[in-house]
Amino acid sequence: MTEVDNYGTDHLGLLVKASNDVDENKRITVENVVDECKAFYIAGHETTTTLLARSVLLLVIHTDWPEEARKEVLELFGQQDPNAEGIPRKKKMNMIINESQRLYPPIINIPRKVQRKVKPGQFILPANINVTILTLTLHLDPQI
Ligand code: HEM
Repeated sequence: MTEVDNYGTDHLGLLVKASNDVDENKRITVENVVDECKAFYIAGHETTTTLLARSVLLLVIHTDWPEEARKEVLELFGQQDPNAEGIPRKKKMNMIINESQRLYPPIINIPRKVQRKVKPGQFILPANINVTILTLTLHLDPQI
C-alpha cells in the first residue's frame, strides 16, 4: 500500500477510506464524511463537556467527595497518569459520574417514532406516533 492510500485505522481514516472505495456501490460521498464528523463532534463533545461541567459543579457543592475521589486516584495510580486498565476500577469516580448523569443527564429526552403497534409493559403504542422518553423524569421519579 502506498502512503497516499494509507488513511489510518481511526474513525476518520475509515471514513476517508470509504469515500475513496474503488467499488462505487460501497463508496460514500464527501458530504457523508462531513455529516459523520459533525454527528460525532456534536454527539461526543456536547455530552462529555456537559457531564464534566456538572460533575465539577457537584464536587464543589458536596465538599467531602473531592477528597474521596483524590484518595482513590492516588491509590490506583500513584503519581502515574491514569491508564485504560485502571479507569474501570475507579469505584468512587464512577459513582460521582453516574450520580451526575442521573441528576443532570446531558440528553434530557430521547425521541422515537413508533413504526408498528407495540406493547411495551403496560402500554399499548399504536403505529405512526412519536414518543419522547424523558430521561430526566426517568432518573428522578422513583415510581418510573
Ligand atoms: C456522557 C457522554 C454521553 C452521553 C450521555 C451520550 C448519550 C447518548 C444517547 C442517549 C444516545 C442515544 C440517542 C438516541 O438513541 O436517540 C447517544 C447516541 C450516540 N452517541 Fe452518545 N453519549 C455520550 C458520549 C458520546 C461520545 C463520546 C461519542 C463519540 C465520540 C458519542 C457518539 C454517539 C453517536 C454517534 C450516537 C448515535 C448512535 C446511533 O444512532 O447509531 N456519544 N448518545
